[in-house]
Amino acid sequence: MSSQDKATVSFTDGTPNIELPILKGVAGPDVIDIRKLYGQTGKFTYDPGFLSTASCQSRITYIDGDKGELLYRGYSIDQLARQCDFLEVCHLILYGELPTPDQKAEFDRRVTRHTMVHEQMHFFTRGFRRDAHPMAVLTGLCGAMSAFYPDSMNLNDAKERDISAIRLIAKMPTLVAMAYKYSKGEPYIYPQNSLTYTANFMRMMFATPCEDYEVNDVLVRAMDRIFILHADHEQNASTSTVRLCASSGTNPFAAIAAGVACLWGPAHGGANEAALNMLYDIQNQGGLAKIGQFIDQVKDKNSGVRLMGFGHRVYKNYDPRAKLMRETCHEVLGELGLHDDPLFKLAMALEKIALEDDYFVSRKLYPNVDFYSGIVQKAIGIPVSLFTAIFALARTVGWIAQLNEMIADPEYKIGRPRQLYLGAGSRNVVPLAQRG
Ligand code: SDX
Repeated sequence: MSSQDKATVSFTDGTPNIELPILKGVAGPDVIDIRKLYGQTGKFTYDPGFLSTASCQSRITYIDGDKGELLYRGYSIDQLARQCDFLEVCHLILYGELPTPDQKAEFDRRVTRHTMVHEQMHFFTRGFRRDAHPMAVLTGLCGAMSAFYPDSMNLNDAKERDISAIRLIAKMPTLVAMAYKYSKGEPYIYPQNSLTYTANFMRMMFATPCEDYEVNDVLVRAMDRIFILHADHEQNASTSTVRLCASSGTNPFAAIAAGVACLWGPAHGGANEAALNMLYDIQNQGGLAKIGQFIDQVKDKNSGVRLMGFGHRVYKNYDPRAKLMRETCHEVLGELGLHDDPLFKLAMALEKIALEDDYFVSRKLYPNVDFYSGIVQKAIGIPVSLFTAIFALARTVGWIAQLNEMIADPEYKIGRPRQLYLGAGSRNVVPLAQRG
């Protein structure tokens, strides 16, 4: 990681010049190690939004934004999505290697045995209105798990970290399905250990006590691919939230609840819900005939309208997950006889325009994973309001792996950023009676 190269910083305010080490990774931009900057110069760096800041070292995921490449532990998302199932990818992200057949069987068994939640958890949902947003419910349920697993709360114990990782991966589908069933006023469906991870989730979502769920392999595969594509993504906003939260030494369930809360935002994980609602809006305003008018609105800075599902802080090329998601769209709509799905046609037309229009091309705004995932989920029967909860289900393994990587790093400290202060200078309180 270290290199002989250095950055020399010279100042015009009399501060002595300093040399800072340049660190090189296996791939991606070099970093300037500024850890001694404040001590040597009394100055901070300034980078709101962290556009030029590496917050940590990591060996989990790598994105090449210019090439549109995504690797989990060195394997391309395309190969993983086509050749593995989600629990194989979970094993890879968590432990660094794809499992052997025996390791896969053992990992699947461990996860399967933890899919039930404590019966008391069922009482938490009753405090919510039935129309509460599923992300409000999921944030609450995740945090509530901190009260049930005293044997896996200590982040500094590797064994406890591993148990909590298995519990979180195993229970998130159960919690998401509970949030959905609660919103519908239907009874919860308990996990079925004879099913695969994703088939079990689909059954908990769509079965009722009166009618079981008939597993459709094409739909299960599509959902499993959605999980794989959303599993991890470097130091995105919610992963950085989980890292910062866990750096205080809090328990893993609370840290994941913080990640769920952050992912909810429409600029982040909430974009799939926003992208589908955008397609609905265009459809309701006249569909394909109105696309030009909508694109004009997006280009008008004052409109505040964005092309949801487009653009990315890192990808300045086509998000490789969007390509795979569009393929899954075709498969699912074909399986369900929805070739003429008007929303999908609208999405394809919007994509075509955006890929040719200079406004988007010049800003390198390409479809991201959220653009097509909503169409697939809607076709499968997932309500729009549940899309981000499903994103959270999938991203839980990434959050946990990144959290564990941080805790296992002997150099890690509690995160505590500084600031550029622009507020009032020191002043004295005037007694209330004298303030006029
Ligand atoms: C996810 O970080 C991750 O990895 C996230 C994620 C993950 O897996 O964890 O990949 C998941 O969050 C995907 C992104 C989902 N969000 C959306 O689809 C919402 C719509 N996209 C944007 O809001 C935006 O593109 C962001 C937030 C994703 C990225 O924004 P940036 O990098 O801060 O870029 P910016 O806002 O500074 O925009 C640069 C320019 C601006 O125009 P100018 O001021 O230069 O004229 O591009 C414009 C923006 O106005 N722009 C858009 C746009 N996104 C950026 N214009 C129209 N539509 C858009 N979607």
